[in-house]
Amino acid sequence: MTTLKVNGQDHQIDADPDTPLLYVLREELALNAAKFGCGLGQCGACTVIVDGKAVLSCVTPLLLLEGKQVTTLEGLGSIEAPGPIQRAFIEEQAAQCGYCIAGMMMLAQALLQKNPKPTDEQIRIELEPHLCRCGTHMRILRAVHRAAHLMQTADASPIQRNAQ
Ligand code: FES
Ligand code: FES
Repeated sequence: MTTLKVNGQDHQIDADPDTPLLYVLREELALNAAKFGCGLGQCGACTVIVDGKAVLSCVTPLLLLEGKQVTTLEGLGSIEAPGPIQRAFIEEQAAQCGYCIAGMMMLAQALLQKNPKPTDEQIRIELEPHLCRCGTHMRILRAVHRAAHLMQTADASPIQRNAQ
């Protein structure tokens, strides 16, 4: 049995310790924002945040997560009350098919937590490993800049409020 803390809640998970976090999130906890893309750590669609760092959940086994704080896109806000990252991606219409977007948002959230005012180049370097087959890269770039601005001017996101 592994105790997994996700979006501030403890869960007792009865699964093989080698089970990838992505499977636990989607199949045990019904948290479906993180997507299965490649399953090989190569596309970024499954990205979540663990203790402040962006992590590929498809290649992160449960056994590494005892006592750590996992945040998924569901922890950044809701449809009724989207957080700054979510608002910015909606306002910039950054999604086309949307498959890569949850991972992009989590990577952007992790970046903005450590660097609240990244340059264009810093955002490009950070997001570069994540694949978007629809080619909405310029909108995603604008959305990250917008999110940075919102975080400095608007209410803090739910995750930031919880951390206070
Ligand atoms: S599904 Fe995890 S990196 Fe592609
Ligand atoms: S919006 Fe379709 S893969 Fe990125």
